[in-house]
Amino acid sequence: MIVVRTVEELKSQISLWKKEGNSVGFVPTMGYLHEGHISLVERSKKQTDKTVLSLFVNPTQFNDPEDYLKYPVNIDGDLEKCKTASVDLVFLPSKEVMYPKTESTITMTQSLLQTNLCGRTRPGHFEGVMLVVSKFFHLVEPNFAFFGLKDYQQFRIIEEMVSLLNFPLQVIGVETLREPDGLAMSSRNVRLSEKERETAKLIPRMYSLAEKLLKDGEKNLSNFKEILRDFLLTGQDVKIDYLETVDPGNLQEKLALEGKILLAVAVFVGKTRLIDNRIFTLPIS
Ligand code: PAJ
Repeated sequence: MIVVRTVEELKSQISLWKKEGNSVGFVPTMGYLHEGHISLVERSKKQTDKTVLSLFVNPTQFNDPEDYLKYPVNIDGDLEKCKTASVDLVFLPSKEVMYPKTESTITMTQSLLQTNLCGRTRPGHFEGVMLVVSKFFHLVEPNFAFFGLKDYQQFRIIEEMVSLLNFPLQVIGVETLREPDGLAMSSRNVRLSEKERETAKLIPRMYSLAEKLLKDGEKNLSNFKEILRDFLLTGQDVKIDYLETVDPGNLQEKLALEGKILLAVAVFVGKTRLIDNRIFTLPIS
């Protein structure tokens, strides 16, 4: 496994591979890798000749400075996991490599897809994600880029960015990997105390309840959301950042319980913010 820290080393290895006729798959991450990240690597290895993974905690996408400072880091452990998963190249840039000091800045926004969900409650977050991901795309020049559907809004925004800016690559969405009790795997889960981890189970249980309500024929959208909110709030130290039902295509609010619905939540359990989502196609039998 090759580990590079500079743009020059990265670009020369990629161009060598491209000259040899290899396709390149790219998995951007912020590290503290878990099996969810590795499932993206596995998907890339199935579909491409060479898999590149980036490890970079991107400062521009954190709207909360404390969240950035507290973001878990374990580079040795991550490199070990990458080796076991047969990643071909790990790009491990410093902050200075990704953001050389300049006086000018550039901002990317998307008018439609950022208006709800994390775009609304974490202002500036997706601007930072789009900026870093487009920089990575220019540096890695992948044929395929793999994103988890756990961060569904991120996936849609990147998909749209690639289409609007004509990046010559295909974005692939990969299903969310979950713990045995249904909690979505996340680098942030390690921050949960034992008690909080127990409380976090309410999230997958809320999705089971949502499914049951829809199967039982719930028609009233505000009732539906109210019941789910109340259910989450039975947990100790739970704060709902958002619980929204949106169209999975344009991420705009649904006005009725019909067709395809993305039920997305962001929940603080203690100080840890957890997100999850699921798409329901109605009616469900
Ligand atoms: P990070 O949170 O490290 O996630 C990296 C990738 O792993 C994302 O595409 C995310 O959706 C995916 N992922 C996380 N948990 C997953 C799970 N349980 N199952 C499947 N995939 C999962 O997302 C980011 O980093 C950053 O915003 C980034 C795109 C790297 C830009 O900085």
